[in-house]
Amino acid sequence: MIATRLTRALSIEAPILSAPMAFASGGALAAAVTRAGGLGLIGGGYGDPAFVEAAFRDAGNTRVGCGFITWRLPEHPDTLRLALERRPVAVMLSFGDPSPYAAAVRDAGALLICQVQDLPSARLARAAGADVIVAQGAEAGGHGATRATMTLVPEVRDALGPEPLLVAAGGIADGRGLASALALGADGVLMGSRFWASAEALTHERHVAAAIAADGDGTVRQRATDIARGYDWPDAYTARVLDNAFVRRWGGRPQEHRAAAAAQREGYTEAFRAGDPEEVGVFVGEAAGLIYDRPTAADIVARTVAEAEAVISAVASLSTG
Ligand SMILES: Cc1cc2nc3c(=O)[nH]c(=O)nc-3n(C[C@H](O)[C@H](O)[C@H](O)COP(=O)(O)O)c2cc1C
Repeated sequence: MIATRLTRALSIEAPILSAPMAFASGGALAAAVTRAGGLGLIGGGYGDPAFVEAAFRDAGNTRVGCGFITWRLPEHPDTLRLALERRPVAVMLSFGDPSPYAAAVRDAGALLICQVQDLPSARLARAAGADVIVAQGAEAGGHGATRATMTLVPEVRDALGPEPLLVAAGGIADGRGLASALALGADGVLMGSRFWASAEALTHERHVAAAIAADGDGTVRQRATDIARGYDWPDAYTARVLDNAFVRRWGGRPQEHRAAAAAQREGYTEAFRAGDPEEVGVFVGEAAGLIYDRPTAADIVARTVAEAEAVISAVASLSTG
């Protein structure tokens, strides 16, 4: 096992967190990741209380955390309260200013994890008292911004110094990614896409199949999925999805799309439920090119750690000649 400051701080065995992915990370996935030695985070996403309640119930007594899309919390203050009552190990806030919620998280005895996409949001997270900062590069699946993981992680480390703990996210799907993240100065990794394609994720089988068939060139950052769903995301964020018929039809035509979206919403929701891989957003990152199967979360954690250990010793032997 790979021990870092993160594993000690969270009392876990592997420096791996699963991302709190809206509509994909339920209680079964979060609990499976924790049981495998990492820390699983429930995808509280847009703040649906029924989803969060069911996810904590499914996680049972296993230690898990929960994540929320920060700019949505003012519309759903009760959902954060509900999650905190379930005694999560940690709450992860992403995409917005975490400051208004930091005290409530701390008072509930949970660690505050803040996902950031640039230096200003990293400084904001530290000022809010984050225990862990997740530096998310644009390779990531789902919403994110523009910086690449490769430069963002060491730059955040340089800018903030040793505290708080730092976790790398975006494009990490195997042990090579974990070893690289540690080399860049991170204390661990948060993986989304890789766990999105795990046996326990809520992801539709047809979406996983589409991601397995795609390579890393086959994803794109866009806003059409938010227009289709009626989510009013701040301009700074776009979402990475597979480049499919839906994205090609509506990408670059936001005004027309906005005019048409409300009438099409029910059909979009139904197509998503049916796992249509062409007519909805398939939320996965550039790591699609590193996903070849749909294993259990336990397999993913075990493989990632074993591979990272092998990479670390191979690199160490290079440096000693
Ligand atoms: C399907 C999917 C849904 C996501 N939903 C959320 C979310 O609700 N909240 C959040 O903070 N991040 C979300 N993310 C982003 C992750 O937190 C994380 O930054 C990303 O998955 C890391 O990059 P990777 O996908 O390359 O591993 C999502 C990612 C994916 C793939």
